[in-house]
Amino acid sequence: MKRSLLAPALLVAATALVAPGSQAAPAPLAPAPDISVTSVQAHLNQLQSIATANGGNRAAGRPGYLASLNWVKGKLDAAGYTTSVQTFSTSAGSTYNLVADWPGGDPNHVVMTGAHLDSVSVGPGINDNGTGSAGILENALAFAASGVTPRNHIRFGFWGAEELGLLGSKHYMSTLSTAEKDKIELYLNFDMIGSPNPGYFVYDDNPAGNGARDDLTSYFTSKGIPWEYIDVQGRSDHAAFRSYGIPTSGTFTGAETTMTSAQAQKWGGQSGRAFDPCYHSSCDTTANVNATALDRNIDAIAFMLWKYADVDYGTTPPPAGGNVLLNPGFESGAASWGGTTGAITSSTSKPAHGGSWKAWLGGNGSTSTESLTQTVTIPSSATTANLSYWIRTDTAETGSTVYDTMKVQVIVGGVTTTLRTFSNVGTSSTYTQFTHSLLAHQGKAVTVKLLMNEDSSLQTSFVVDDTAVSVS
Ligand code: PHE
Ligand code: ZN
Ligand code: ZN
Ligand code: CA
Repeated sequence: MKRSLLAPALLVAATALVAPGSQAAPAPLAPAPDISVTSVQAHLNQLQSIATANGGNRAAGRPGYLASLNWVKGKLDAAGYTTSVQTFSTSAGSTYNLVADWPGGDPNHVVMTGAHLDSVSVGPGINDNGTGSAGILENALAFAASGVTPRNHIRFGFWGAEELGLLGSKHYMSTLSTAEKDKIELYLNFDMIGSPNPGYFVYDDNPAGNGARDDLTSYFTSKGIPWEYIDVQGRSDHAAFRSYGIPTSGTFTGAETTMTSAQAQKWGGQSGRAFDPCYHSSCDTTANVNATALDRNIDAIAFMLWKYADVDYGTTPPPAGGNVLLNPGFESGAASWGGTTGAITSSTSKPAHGGSWKAWLGGNGSTSTESLTQTVTIPSSATTANLSYWIRTDTAETGSTVYDTMKVQVIVGGVTTTLRTFSNVGTSSTYTQFTHSLLAHQGKAVTVKLLMNEDSSLQTSFVVDDTAVSVS
């Protein structure tokens, strides 16, 4: 939400006055690909099978929901997303959100797309909302496969318990700090995008300055698809985002309301019949989906995703000292780091290199794996990019056999490279600095990973502090 409010004329002037050697704008993304409706239909078949195997539904608090979530998570994990599962409680029992982040992009400008993954308890929920879930899933997979490096940070939300009162999306927003909410520039919602007697509706949200709404309608117009605005009120998961003040929009093909004769004429549908006669019923199966409506809407999602991945929301000032890692000396505890964040500690048993916090991996003396990760983007114009860190090690092992290790790795485009392996052999309790060049990864999202493995006995401690990815 926070952006520099430069007038267009000033933006032109600023662009023209870019000094030689300053950071060039990233190359624009290629246009959105055609999203395969066959693939989305295969996802719907999978959700139908999950419902069938779990009492005919995928409702909050029921096993079919968790099975749906685990299946979606597996697909996103395999494609390289960083996923997290949020648990929250409802009157139907515990249920979950799944949040998937594409590594990289400016973390200060987040473009978010979401859909509810739960059904009502009386049916499998294939149009409501297998279509929205499968549609954003296939878009997420296509985005990963395209190999693009987005300017902005891309995130997907699969919400639980929408049918119990938009609970998952409300819970998600309640977990974010003001700073994290303010980074969300746009939220796009997809709930029922394959209704059997389809209309083409675009959420008529916060009209003032909401370019997203207008982009969706322009897209439909460009494809010769007549559309209507709809005021969806608070009836889906965009509501929690909109009430915070985040621009929102989305598409919808209609639920329980009946199609008018004017609508039937322009959309070639059946007047007097509901857009979805199986809305919230046991007949909301894979037979309850219009493939043309689904195909058009998944391509509209792709149009928006590819466009907003690359919208310029303004640049964030370069970090002090050129270090693009956040919380590099761990003085903010676990902030900005993923993995075994309990390894970040202010324990006085091990000295810090600076301040009082550090990352202490290992030291368990039992079979264990711990890791810490953070993803940064190396500017495409960088002329230096160095990963550095200070490390001290100590061990209860003796001899020259390697038992316990900590690898310093980078993951780029799903490929893991180990830069250095520390072990119980050759430990040093004096902090020493190591540096590795990351210049080969210009313009790429790079996940820095510390990966520790200890065997069943005799501890080795790997204590890391004052990390940096210094770019200039
Ligand atoms: N959120 C509603 C449901 O899941 C469907 C809906 C979506 C209604 C968008 C209006 C607008 O049942
Ligand atoms: Zn519903
Ligand atoms: Zn719904
Ligand atoms: Ca420190």
